[in-house]
Amino acid sequence: MADFKKVANTDDIPLGSMKSFKLGFEQIVICHNNNGFFAVEDVCSHDSAPISDGHIDADGHIVCARHGAKFECKSGDVKAPPAVVGLETFKIKVENNEIFVSLD
Ligand code: FES
Repeated sequence: MADFKKVANTDDIPLGSMKSFKLGFEQIVICHNNNGFFAVEDVCSHDSAPISDGHIDADGHIVCARHGAKFECKSGDVKAPPAVVGLETFKIKVENNEIFVSLD
């Protein structure tokens, strides 16, 4: 069974933004787009830049600040080069305006 830990309140991450958190030994990013909240690793798969240095674009994708690779928030899939490998994603749930993530 997934072991969910509270990471943030929904108010901490306004629509169209993302924020980095330490959870266990992982640095994760919570992203908030029109489809909801999603959790991915805070490491770009292209050249290891913190993905949280980037931004969420108009399509709701994560854009890496270093070389501009784009990733889908929910799946972590690559949407634009130079990255060729997607981001690791984590299970997330929102209850009563609180955000929980499982690293399992
Ligand atoms: S480090 Fe992210 S696109 Fe290069």
